[in-house]
Amino acid sequence: MDIKKVVIPVAGWGTRSLPATKNVPKEMLPIYNKPVVQYVVEEAQAAGLTDVVLVTNRNKTIIEDHFDYNLALEDVLTRTGKLDMLKTVRDVAEMVNIITVRQKKQLGLGHAVLCAREAVKNDPFAVMVGDDLMFGMEPGIKQLLNVAHSEHMPVVGVMEVPADKVSSYGIISGEEFAPGLYRVRDLMEKPKASETSSRLAMVGRYVLYPDIFDHLENLGPGQGGEIQLTDALKALTKSNRLLAVKIRGQRYDAGDWAEYLAANIYFALHDEDLRYPLVQRLKELLPIN
Ligand code: UTP
Repeated sequence: MDIKKVVIPVAGWGTRSLPATKNVPKEMLPIYNKPVVQYVVEEAQAAGLTDVVLVTNRNKTIIEDHFDYNLALEDVLTRTGKLDMLKTVRDVAEMVNIITVRQKKQLGLGHAVLCAREAVKNDPFAVMVGDDLMFGMEPGIKQLLNVAHSEHMPVVGVMEVPADKVSSYGIISGEEFAPGLYRVRDLMEKPKASETSSRLAMVGRYVLYPDIFDHLENLGPGQGGEIQLTDALKALTKSNRLLAVKIRGQRYDAGDWAEYLAANIYFALHDEDLRYPLVQRLKELLPIN
């Protein structure tokens, strides 16, 4: 079956990014000249996903507005002859179909996915976490879709993390049955590094089947009092119904300041006009040759 829908949860509080996120959603903070969530939607589009279900809250309507036409602005850009920029802003409105659902209480990532149930209906679907950015030769979510299409099973995206980061992630363990492909036997939400020898962390990319909603509905609050997607995925491992793929590419967690700033520099350095002046300014700040 061709998977066309992707759920992008963007309803969290973004407390790690305060005070920047007091009124501006974390997913709308810019990475160079585009908001974080636009990179996520571009990855979805590049992977052939056409229908984006944004899980939002009452303070985040500017996210859906970003993917809509802004006719007043288009009028100004037309009148002033700024046609390149006109195309740029119009293209964003035409990238994908947007469906929004509300998460009325911020009860965690698993709960946010459950809020999308009516919009997803009975088809398999992708989930992309709205503040996790991935770049590489092949879109991160496409690498999962390829496996889901061939194996007809739910898939999670993983990357290796150093031991001191294990306690920040859901960690999978299992056997590697093909290069970079794992049959998941167990999952732990934010374990201590001493509790697992695995360093394979889930990194905000999933392909799921509608049975996940029943598992989510039956869950009580897990770690941190939140409804954890990891706990519902754990239920799938009981019937050997979960695969993991090691994603090839670079990843930035936009909720972490060091990574957020590094992502800004990565994109700025890829812009030919900006590279030279940026490097000059950085040289003044740092002792680099
Ligand atoms: P995070 O845990 O990184 O985001 O969730 P957060 O809760 O907004 O941030 P901090 O930890 O307080 O800084 C990953 C993604 O899941 C969404 C967030 O918006 C983010 O894009 N999310 C999280 C929801 O949609 N609902 C929730 O209840 C929790």
